[in-house]
Amino acid sequence: MIPVGHALVCAAVDRAGPFAKGMTGMMISKPMAKKLNEQITHELASAHLYLAMSCAFNHLGLPMLAKWFIKQADEERGHAMKFVNYIQDVGAEVRLDALPKPKELSDSPTDIVKAAVEHELTVTAQINDLVALAETEKDYATRSFLQWFLDEQVEEVATVNGLLQLVKMGDDKHMLQVEARVAMMRPSSA
Ligand SMILES: [Fe+2]
Ligand SMILES: [Fe+2]
Repeated sequence: MIPVGHALVCAAVDRAGPFAKGMTGMMISKPMAKKLNEQITHELASAHLYLAMSCAFNHLGLPMLAKWFIKQADEERGHAMKFVNYIQDVGAEVRLDALPKPKELSDSPTDIVKAAVEHELTVTAQINDLVALAETEKDYATRSFLQWFLDEQVEEVATVNGLLQLVKMGDDKHMLQVEARVAMMRPSSA
């Protein structure tokens, strides 16, 4: 017969779940857990920004560009979930933070896409910082996990730079042609 007091303690530990696990069996350091948690916010902030950009393009009467940015926003949420899952897999605690307000956007399609390029470069620097920390700490599991993001950032910067090149050709005046080309770039999202 298990004493009532013991049962209560076990129930309390069970309820603590991942938190208790994080305190005892974490595969990563606390500074690494903190930085990975921050990246969840950065990825969700990217989704938030791209949703704002999508709405701005809809407001400008450019539905193909709007859909392109909705798809980007969905991808960023997927990135955030990869960090959520990894943090839990290594026994750390997920701590969600508030999202920053998306910055004010210009009425110029070119300027909006330029802001997206700048944003992707900022995220690339954030991923590089995470990799540097993982290497400093000899945290090879996290280093391996981050490889996917290094590769993804190369692809994302190239893709958004391609979009910028296209939008620049439209010079904010010939946007119907740009829309037609954007629809061809992303047929699955059109
Ligand atoms: Fe991302
Ligand atoms: Fe991205």
